[in-house]
Amino acid sequence: MEIIAIANQKGGVGKTTTAVNLTASLAAKRKRVLLIDLDPQGNATSGTGIDKNDLELTIADVLLDDVSLQDATVMSPAGFDVIGANRELAGMDVTLMGQTNSHELLQTAMTNLVEAQSSSKEGPYDYVIMDCAPSLNLLTINALVATDGVIIPMQCEYYALEGLADLSQTIERLTELNPKLYIRGVVRTLFDARNTLARDVSAELEAHFGDIMYKTHIPRNIRLAEAPAHGLPVIAYERWSKGARAYQKLAAEVIKQSR
Ligand SMILES: Nc1ncnc2c1ncn2[C@@H]1O[C@H](COP(=O)(O)OP(=O)(O)O)[C@@H](O)[C@H]1O
Ligand SMILES: [Mg+2]
Repeated sequence: MEIIAIANQKGGVGKTTTAVNLTASLAAKRKRVLLIDLDPQGNATSGTGIDKNDLELTIADVLLDDVSLQDATVMSPAGFDVIGANRELAGMDVTLMGQTNSHELLQTAMTNLVEAQSSSKEGPYDYVIMDCAPSLNLLTINALVATDGVIIPMQCEYYALEGLADLSQTIERLTELNPKLYIRGVVRTLFDARNTLARDVSAELEAHFGDIMYKTHIPRNIRLAEAPAHGLPVIAYERWSKGARAYQKLAAEVIKQSR
C-alpha cells in the first residue's frame, strides 16, 4: 500500500481536483484506491458525489474518536472508497492542542488499517490518496506524518519557483517526524500553453527541479471545473476531454513510479 498526500500551502492550485481525478484514474486502471478528505471544506467529498452533511462518520471521527479508517469508509457514487470530511473537522487544531501524540493520529490509524487488511479477503489498497487543506495545520501535519510521498500541484506563475523551494524546505524539516517523507512529484496544473509566462516558468521548474517534475501537464480545462458540480470525477463526466486524458496520463506516471 502506497500512501500519497496531495499538498500545497497555497489555495486554488488544483489539489482537490488532482486528488479526486488521480484517484478516479487509478481506480479506472483497476487499482484499489482509498481517497481521504482532510480539508474541512469537504470539496473532495462532494466532488465524488457524497453529501458531506449527511455522513454518519468522517475523518474527524477517526482522528478525534478513535473510529477505525475501515469503519469511516463509504463507497462513493464515483465508484471508489472515500473517507469524507466536513465542518466537524474545522476545530481539530484547538481540540487536540497540547495532546502529545496529536500529529501521529492518522499514522496510527493507517497502521491499524494495514494490519486489518492483511487478514481481509480483499487485501490491501494499492494507493491511499489524501487531499490536504491549503495550510500547514495539524491536519496537514497528520497527513505528512502518515504518508510516504507527497504530490505537489503547482501553477506555473511568477512565484512558483520560490513557492516550490519553500515547500521543499518545509518537507525537509518534517522528515524529523517522518523519515520516509519525500516529494513523489510536482504536477503542473491549470496549465495554459499559449501563455508565455506559463511556458517560461514551466521551463524554469524543469531546469531546477527536473527530476521531480511529472511530464504530464494538466491543462486548464472547463470540464475539470464543471465535473464537481455533478458529483463526478472528470473521467465519468467527459471521458474524452483534455482534462480527463491528462489525469489518466498522470495516473500512468504515478503507477510507473511504483515499480
Ligand atoms: N485544470 C483545471 N482546469 C480548470 N479548472 C480547474 C483546473 N484545476 C482546478 N480547477 C478549478 O479551480 C478551482 C480550484 O481548484 P481546487 O482543485 O479546488 O484547488 P485547491 O484544492 O488547491 O484549493 C476549482 O474551482 C476547480 O474546479
Ligand atoms: Mg482543496
